[in-house]
Amino acid sequence: MSQELFEAAREAMKKAYAPYSRFPVGAAIRTRDGRVFSGANIEVASYPEGWCAETTALGHYVMGGGGKIAEIAVIAEKMAKVTPCGGCRQRLAEFASPDALVHLCDETGVVETLTMNELLPLGFSGDILK
Ligand code: THU
Repeated sequence: MSQELFEAAREAMKKAYAPYSRFPVGAAIRTRDGRVFSGANIEVASYPEGWCAETTALGHYVMGGGGKIAEIAVIAEKMAKVTPCGGCRQRLAEFASPDALVHLCDETGVVETLTMNELLPLGFSGDILK
């Protein structure tokens, strides 16, 4: 299943709009009931207004109905084992439980798998705000 998710992330990466960094990234999220949502990074000439592949994928996931996240794959063609940035770790942790799997990839497939908790230990929890 993780190979299939890798392929979804790699396909998404082809749609990256990254004319400024020229650093395309793809991400894919699989829910426990088997739905897959993917995304690519989207840049803006006013640089801080761009956003990451993981954020695009999360937008599709939320609009697709959300649900329990089983695994997430991330790939960047110019960096093996690219890891989600700090902001995306917090965004992913908003929806993915600590035991959700995060697959780091290279061009051939998954090369390392971490849990969400390993990726973001001690992240801020919004529980007190609810
Ligand atoms: N980027 C992502 O899409 N995800 C990450 O986790 C790391 C960085 C994008 C943002 C920007 O478009 C480009 O990579 C260079 O920082």
